[in-house]
Amino acid sequence: MTIGFEGRVAIVTGAGNGLGRAYALELARRGAKVVVNDLGGARDGSAGQNNAEIVAEEIRAAGGEAIANIDSVTDEAAMNAMAEAAKAKWGRIDILMNNAGILRDKSFAKMTIADFRQIVDVHLMGAAICTKAVWELMRDQNYGRILMTTSATGLYGNFGQSNYGAAKLGLVGFMNSLGIEGQKNDIRVNTIAPAAATRMTEDIMPPEVLAKMGPETVVPAALYLVSEEAPNRATIAAGGGGFERAHITLTRGIRVGAEDMTPEVVAAQFDGISSREGEVVPDGAFVQSAMALDEL
Ligand code: NAI
Repeated sequence: MTIGFEGRVAIVTGAGNGLGRAYALELARRGAKVVVNDLGGARDGSAGQNNAEIVAEEIRAAGGEAIANIDSVTDEAAMNAMAEAAKAKWGRIDILMNNAGILRDKSFAKMTIADFRQIVDVHLMGAAICTKAVWELMRDQNYGRILMTTSATGLYGNFGQSNYGAAKLGLVGFMNSLGIEGQKNDIRVNTIAPAAATRMTEDIMPPEVLAKMGPETVVPAALYLVSEEAPNRATIAAGGGGFERAHITLTRGIRVGAEDMTPEVVAAQFDGISSREGEVVPDGAFVQSAMALDEL
């Protein structure tokens, strides 16, 4: 089976560099028409060079179709206009890859609320704004593929990235509900947790590790997750030749009567509550209460 994107229209945010650029180039190589969005700017979001037009030109030079958009994912009016422009030019929008991102790493003690808010604004609100801009059209088309970008930091934590981790796991929560709402219109929403050598990680991982982890090692998972055959509500970790799936599980836990609903009982039973034997991956929010009431 070959995964093709002929006739598909894709928006890739933050596609001037790193992973977004690699996604955009491979989507185009496989037939998609691509909106290459990038605000430009340095790793922390301050002013810098904008490569969106360079990547769009690279696609066109290789015989593909692309347009550049240099607005911020945080700008609601501009993202609506970007979606309108893509629709006007190509008639539809099949794929949205929410990839744009910045870092403001600091221990929480040294972090300002402005640093926290800026990260939530770009990663979480940016993805919500871009998704909102295409959602109605995808519903009308009865087709859509949306990718969120989380991070091992969001899923598992990392010193100095409390702002980034909060925003990144927020995207998994966004996917979980959005994927349910999109189902009846064949809109599938998935999440990638990349690990790749980009300017974002150039001073975080050692050079010998980075050498094996080019953005192209994440592309296969990201493209599968926006393909026609994509699953719905899957979180795939990818990089350096490894592909894993991250699940949010619920342990079987314990059941107690009213007389034992005390903090002391929870403390005494903490190991039993935490035991992973028989744990499940709930397919929706109601599993928790159903399990508590022994209905599952
Ligand atoms: P990168 O810094 O090479 O690319 C990010 C791009 O987003 C840049 O071109 C930047 O100009 C653009 N951007 C930033 N703010 C924007 C805004 N407001 N509007 C539009 N574009 C904006 O970094 P990389 O590594 O390619 O990151 C891509 C995504 O993957 C990010 O969401 C990042 O958090 C995530 N990620 C990357 C990992 C890695 O190992 N490289 C690990 C986990 C997550």
